Amino acid sequence: MLDLKDLPTPCYVIDEPALVRNLEVLDAVQERTGCKILMALKGFAMFGVFPLIRQRLRGVAASSLHEARLGREEFGREVHVYAPAYREGEFDELLACCDHIVFNSFSQWRRFKPRIASAKKEVSCGIRVNPEHSEVRVALYDPCAPFSRLGVTREHFRGEDLRGISGLHFHTLCELNADSLERTLRAFEEKFGEFIPAMKWINFGGGHHITRPDYDVELLCRLIADFRKRYGVEVYLEPGEAVALNAGYLIASVLDLLHNGRPIAILDASAAAHAPDVLEMPYRPEIEGAGKEGEFPYSYRLGGLTCLAGDVFGDYSFPEPLQVGSKLVFTDMAHYTMVKNTTFNGVGLPAIAIRGADGKIRIVRRFGYEDYRNRLS
Ligand SMILES: Cc1ncc(COP(=O)(O)O)c(C=O)c1O
Repeated sequence: MLDLKDLPTPCYVIDEPALVRNLEVLDAVQERTGCKILMALKGFAMFGVFPLIRQRLRGVAASSLHEARLGREEFGREVHVYAPAYREGEFDELLACCDHIVFNSFSQWRRFKPRIASAKKEVSCGIRVNPEHSEVRVALYDPCAPFSRLGVTREHFRGEDLRGISGLHFHTLCELNADSLERTLRAFEEKFGEFIPAMKWINFGGGHHITRPDYDVELLCRLIADFRKRYGVEVYLEPGEAVALNAGYLIASVLDLLHNGRPIAILDASAAAHAPDVLEMPYRPEIEGAGKEGEFPYSYRLGGLTCLAGDVFGDYSFPEPLQVGSKLVFTDMAHYTMVKNTTFNGVGLPAIAIRGADGKIRIVRRFGYEDYRNRLS
């Protein structure tokens, strides 16, 4: 249990021992297969814990100039970048930050090829392909959905000049197990297999839920080792979520209790502003010591601090009645929270803290009015 006594709320607390356990699982996959694992910064980018992460992972996968710069300045190992398109004015700075760059189309590759040729440093270039094999059920998260803009389909790969291209990248998964990768690899090889022998590396993207307890690590290792043996290429994975899965909390306090057909609690955190995937995915986060509605005697709908009618975390029950001031611990709140939060309604951003191996919680960052104001003009 976390010692919440003196903790300001709302607050994200990153659990260092849990993060290290995830990193050990990922590192074991690298050791066993010789693959290289990058952390996707879009999922988790808390640079205060980069020193821990860089001991195990090979680098970062960035999706913009700012992420690439953060990776270069704060992480310092390999920086790979992929975005659906690059901006002319940012490109030289982007190149200076990265080691690998992946293009989403041959038109982008042709546009920027001369800039790469004249750059001071060598950058390894790749093309993102779209194997047109859907494993993700929710269209919002399916890069292979019909009319997807992400990656070159086989039809448009035909007859292209691949000189200067050293790698292929695909990203098709989201929170999925190794059987989804197995089927994706089959589709990828069926469509693009003839080009693999000419490549130095293949990037299998993210969405591999490797650190989830039921993930089939054995199958993942078999797939990677077999692929490397058959083609003699480097294999990269770039998970975001798996790095920080179950490695953090969002702590919130109850501000008010009211009733409208059922008991409702208003929290000092917001689903919309502080944990947007709760509404976007959508999903129901777990709370320590709480259950589903009706599981314990005292049930509440837990609502956020903004005026959005749907700013609701969900319906929960507790063994004891909630009080104004009660602290709630939402679990699995490290990934896709800090990197996606907003100051909608002017609500304050949660502080950021680390729970160390000794169990002590250290606050590393607090936010205030300036963080809200500086984004507005
Ligand atoms: C290209 C790419 N790589 C990696 C990731 C990370 O995925 P995840 O956090 O699900 O592992 C994403 C997520 O959208 C992505 O689009």
